[in-house]
Amino acid sequence: MSRSVEHAMAPEKIVILTGAGISAESGLSTFRDADGLWAQHRIEDVATPEAFQRDPARVHAFYNARRAKAAEVMPNAAHHALVRLEAEHPGAVLIITQNVDDLHARAGSRNLVHMHGRLMGALCHACGHRWPAPPEMHATDPCPACSAAQTRPDIVWFGETPYGAEVIDPALAAADIFAAIGTSGNVYPAAAYAQHAARLGARTVQINLEPASNARDFDESHIGPATELVPKWVESILNR
Ligand code: OAD
Repeated sequence: MSRSVEHAMAPEKIVILTGAGISAESGLSTFRDADGLWAQHRIEDVATPEAFQRDPARVHAFYNARRAKAAEVMPNAAHHALVRLEAEHPGAVLIITQNVDDLHARAGSRNLVHMHGRLMGALCHACGHRWPAPPEMHATDPCPACSAAQTRPDIVWFGETPYGAEVIDPALAAADIFAAIGTSGNVYPAAAYAQHAARLGARTVQINLEPASNARDFDESHIGPATELVPKWVESILNR
């Protein structure tokens, strides 16, 4: 029996995965578009634990620049539409973001998992203590808990385990609707969530400027800019 039949009277549970495309119209670069961050920087120089061991100053320079840029921009109509969905939809709404900016939180989303970490967080590589990141971070900044000079941004790098599986896995299993917004479907485990949620009974939706690499995993596709299509999609869910 499909979950929609089984729970015909229960409010639908919605899980939304967002990526860099939802913040693009706020003015933040994506990763894999022609002018994206990975066209200007090599992942192995700035986004791996090995890069941090080798050249922490270079890694910090990359994330300090991104933190400064994120602080300059504002949430857009797509972020705001998801806040409205969470406030007005009678069922659970969870946002899983791969983004390290704070635009969902600044817009007002509450049920939010930053699976790839946050630019605005600092993490001690020695003891695991976390604290709010200053605008500019250096590896030599002492940890407030253990004083080690191994401060890193609280970002999940390639080769590390994403955050929030304890929230994400049960939410995917229970989801009636899974929507991926502004993500190219290239980075795992996030890229597998659509297929996983579909197998467990969810209807899957993508909203993206172009079909994602995992486009076949979606029942429904809305191709175009997030600031136009996300408010329309939210309206359609709320008016059902
Ligand atoms: P990508 O740069 O891979 O993909 C962004 C997607 O957004 C692309 O498919 C674009 O077509 C789409 N897009 C661009 N502008 C858009 C707009 N205005 N409206 C809607 N869609 C738009 O970024 P992610 O999929 O988020 O991880 O990348 C996933 C992860 O790879 C990131 O979290 C990061 C990166 O390496 C780490 O650094 C660990």
